[in-house]
Amino acid sequence: MTFTGGALPDTSESGDQLVGLFEVAEMAGVSRTVVANWRTRDKRFPAPIADLRSGPVFRASQIRRYLKRRKSHMAHVIATINLKGGVGKTTTTAALAEFLSAEFNKRVLVIDLDPQTNLTTVLVGEQKWESLNDSGYTLATLFQDALRPEGESPKFNLGKTLQQNVSSVDAVRKVDLLPSSLDLIDVQDRLASMSSGRFYSNNPTDLLRKAVRKILDDYDYVLVDCPPNLGIVTLNGLRISDGYIIPTIPDVLSTYGIPQIQQRVRAFADSLGETITEIGIVVTKYRAASAVHRNTVARLEDDEELPVVLPTYIPERDNIAGSAEFVGRSTLRQKYGYQGEYKAFRSMTEEFIELVEENA
Ligand SMILES: Nc1ncnc2c1ncn2[C@@H]1O[C@H](COP(=O)(O)OP(=O)(O)O)[C@@H](O)[C@H]1O
Ligand SMILES: [Mg+2]
Repeated sequence: MTFTGGALPDTSESGDQLVGLFEVAEMAGVSRTVVANWRTRDKRFPAPIADLRSGPVFRASQIRRYLKRRKSHMAHVIATINLKGGVGKTTTTAALAEFLSAEFNKRVLVIDLDPQTNLTTVLVGEQKWESLNDSGYTLATLFQDALRPEGESPKFNLGKTLQQNVSSVDAVRKVDLLPSSLDLIDVQDRLASMSSGRFYSNNPTDLLRKAVRKILDDYDYVLVDCPPNLGIVTLNGLRISDGYIIPTIPDVLSTYGIPQIQQRVRAFADSLGETITEIGIVVTKYRAASAVHRNTVARLEDDEELPVVLPTYIPERDNIAGSAEFVGRSTLRQKYGYQGEYKAFRSMTEEFIELVEENA
């Protein structure tokens, strides 16, 4: 139902149209559930000028202003997923974070949900990770809090856990990190075996969102490195994500699970009444000399059921494997290498930004 200026008490602002929740959802290109969520969570959402029996009524101009501001202030939250380990997930996430910051001037938050803690050690080094882990300043503490007996106070401290301006590369200006811990394996199992009654007021897939929603929009990009499964920890990552990428080695076994990921993520998003967009597949460890790699890439690109394949493939190179070591460097060229590695990551990041912004 659209109200015009004349249908209700004068709206002064030069015949400004009045709109209901249905029109707001249409203007924003989202479902009404999403609009309802914005209204309850975002204090910047305009107040209705009237509450009718059919629902609240807003000024269209205020809604338009809100949507514009919302768009420019919101972080893009993107998960990195593959059900297979060793496919370059962590390497891709680390490179994206560093290139987004150093080359494209974006503020980036990295959330490491993989108990392997590789991304954390790439970004802060082994020693720093150990001391954070000893102090309980990792995401494991957040999940452990949900498992504490009633009455015991939570221990997760967002301020102390959030590591600011990480990365050993000087050119990287703004990459912050929420570190992972090996204890996430244990937590994952215990969360999965909890009785549902225990979670009556404590949804196990909503723990991360509740803890970080205050800070997400301080960033342009939030990258979530997920473990190679679709367990509760991964679902926590997906719960805050607008989209996801799938890094994969272009071989038979690494690409096998992609349709399953698509299906499961879609089902999870549907259950929330939201969308989690398929951003694309990132081809990693590519060997042009391998017939299997060439054929698999061609097959991925032809299959219209699969997410798009980013045009730049990341080549398999010693320099890239070596980039996982935490040593000081001034530039990303030094870190990733001069033989096309730097260039590949840079153009992959550029393609990533385009796809994410197109889909927003
Ligand atoms: N493009 C590449 N060239 C060579 N080695 C790579 C490349 N990408 C990743 N690696 C190496 O392969 C291994 C697995 O990569 P990683 O990013 O940790 O995968 P995942 O996070 O999927 O388990 C690591 O030892 C990493 O250094
Ligand atoms: Mg990894």
